[in-house]
Amino acid sequence: MKTKKSGAKYSAIVGIGEELKKLERETGQEYLALNRGINNVVKIDLNEIASEIDYNTAAMQFYAPTTGSLSLKKAINSEYFDNKADTDNIMITGGGMNALNILFSTLDVEKIYSHSMFWGAYANILKITKIEQDFYSDYEELAKNPEKFKNSAIIICDPNNPVGNKYSDKRLLEIVETLEKHDVTVIWDGPYRRLFYGNTDNLYQKLLQFKNVIITESFSKSVGLSGQRLGFIHTQNEELNKEVGIKLLYCNNGINTFSQILIEKLLTTKKGKKASSDFKKETVKHISRNIQYLIDNKLLASEFYQKSTPVGIFVIVNKSYEELLDKNIGSVPLNYFTKRTDIKPKKFSRICVSVPNDKFVSFFDKFKVIDNFSN
Ligand SMILES: Cc1ncc(COP(=O)(O)O)c(C=O)c1O
Repeated sequence: MKTKKSGAKYSAIVGIGEELKKLERETGQEYLALNRGINNVVKIDLNEIASEIDYNTAAMQFYAPTTGSLSLKKAINSEYFDNKADTDNIMITGGGMNALNILFSTLDVEKIYSHSMFWGAYANILKITKIEQDFYSDYEELAKNPEKFKNSAIIICDPNNPVGNKYSDKRLLEIVETLEKHDVTVIWDGPYRRLFYGNTDNLYQKLLQFKNVIITESFSKSVGLSGQRLGFIHTQNEELNKEVGIKLLYCNNGINTFSQILIEKLLTTKKGKKASSDFKKETVKHISRNIQYLIDNKLLASEFYQKSTPVGIFVIVNKSYEELLDKNIGSVPLNYFTKRTDIKPKKFSRICVSVPNDKFVSFFDKFKVIDNFSN
């Protein structure tokens, strides 16, 4: 049997998780797994809304419409766009990864550019979809030289994975406006944003004025439901919309109806809205405390936050993977997220700060003990 090899690599982060579990088994000690991108402060309380779901319906049991259930699209339109979008422009996907894969395999562009600090999966999806990857060093580079990106697409990921920083919305919108004027396609991939904002956030409404902006979203991070595999693509480009619909049909045959109904309840019912808001509030409270702890203890790699604010769910710390592992903390070395040569990425690590603050502090306090001994 012959196999077509894409050149994409299996996730190193999964491998690190397996290594941590092995260490736990071998040593009998607890490890704090900050290598994964999951919100692990609290779980969203789904039990109350689950009781409102009727399982014996055609909507639950039969194929969903290929690009998603209309009632979910309407709920998304209300929650994310204040009903200003066209529901036909919203297409439900099997999470953000599925959205990006379909998008990359559909866009006819020479290259796709991401920030020089980028989510490693972009590189692998681009390998699979055979598009060249390139990088911009920071957002100002896009504004300075928009012509350079004319036949390419630009990914904007804010808050960023891996840095967990947030730029000014005002400035990002100005940059998108410049790119729009130069006919550059922008993929706004922001699955972390809505963890920090409720439905009064009007950024996506503002993005509607730009015809070349494609939004990819996910419910994995904002409401902690990565297991449900649900997200969406918003595009105002008719041709792209049609082709994405075809891909959704022949790749997925529509998306799981249960997850669509569950998320719709979350977005539209009183109990669902309360569950989401409680989840976000508690999660963000612990994320903020953890980041403040890192700042206070000079563990945050401040060089990555000069023109932006650390918000999470990830941050970069100035400790290596090995130094963190020595304190039973799992992380991902920064070289998995950048090809920059002006820094030594292995000296830094990405950690997920979405864990209970007391637990987080108890592990990171181990750095203080050593310092006290060495003083
Ligand atoms: C920047 C970014 N985009 C998209 C995703 C996709 O998430 P999912 O496939 O779980 O929806 C992730 C997940 O880690 C991410 O970090």
